[in-house]
Amino acid sequence: MSGTAVYEVRRLSGEDEFHSALVLRHEVFCVEQGVPAHEELDGRDHEGLHLVAISAGEVVGTCRLLMVGPTAQFSRLAVRQGLRRQGIATALLELAEQEARRAGSSRLVLHAQTYAQRLYEQAGYRIRGRVFVEAGIEHIAMERRLG
Ligand SMILES: CC(C)(COP(=O)(O)OP(=O)(O)OC[C@H]1O[C@@H](n2cnc3c(N)ncnc32)[C@H](O)[C@@H]1OP(=O)(O)O)[C@@H](O)C(=O)NCCC(=O)NCCS
Repeated sequence: MSGTAVYEVRRLSGEDEFHSALVLRHEVFCVEQGVPAHEELDGRDHEGLHLVAISAGEVVGTCRLLMVGPTAQFSRLAVRQGLRRQGIATALLELAEQEARRAGSSRLVLHAQTYAQRLYEQAGYRIRGRVFVEAGIEHIAMERRLG
């Protein structure tokens, strides 16, 4: 699939979609970016709230929120390769913010891959630390306070 996509973002629904989201994460993080599968699957998926972007009935984007006290940890943001730069990640970030507010979180935190820092800055995140390497990839901690 490629070209301009019509998509919706919402909470993940059911085991089939969960499986599709994990397949997409594997393709993007493990195959494309070389992250070891045991790091991608960190054992915390069952605690998470998973969001998806759906286009033509397929999961084309996904991310995860973990609520830890007043902090919502955002991670595992992946968009299918042929459908990037169309606002899908931005739409997932917006929905994640709504979900975090609904859960009563006072802030959202994430580890951004430095190449994608602009994506998060545009969504209102600010840097809160130094660059570090995780799974062989440069990251930087960012946060967004929810007023
Ligand atoms: C990062 C990723 C999730 C972005 O998804 P996306 O749907 O293409 O993002 P958006 O279309 O919402 O991008 C919004 C803005 O973010 C910035 N951005 C997005 N991808 C970028 C890239 N590869 N390089 C630089 N800036 C980028 C741009 O400012 C972009 O606006 P523009 O397209 O008008 O220039 C996607 O490239 C991806 O899945 N990458 C592989 C996995 C990954 O790196 N995940 C993030 C871990 S922190």
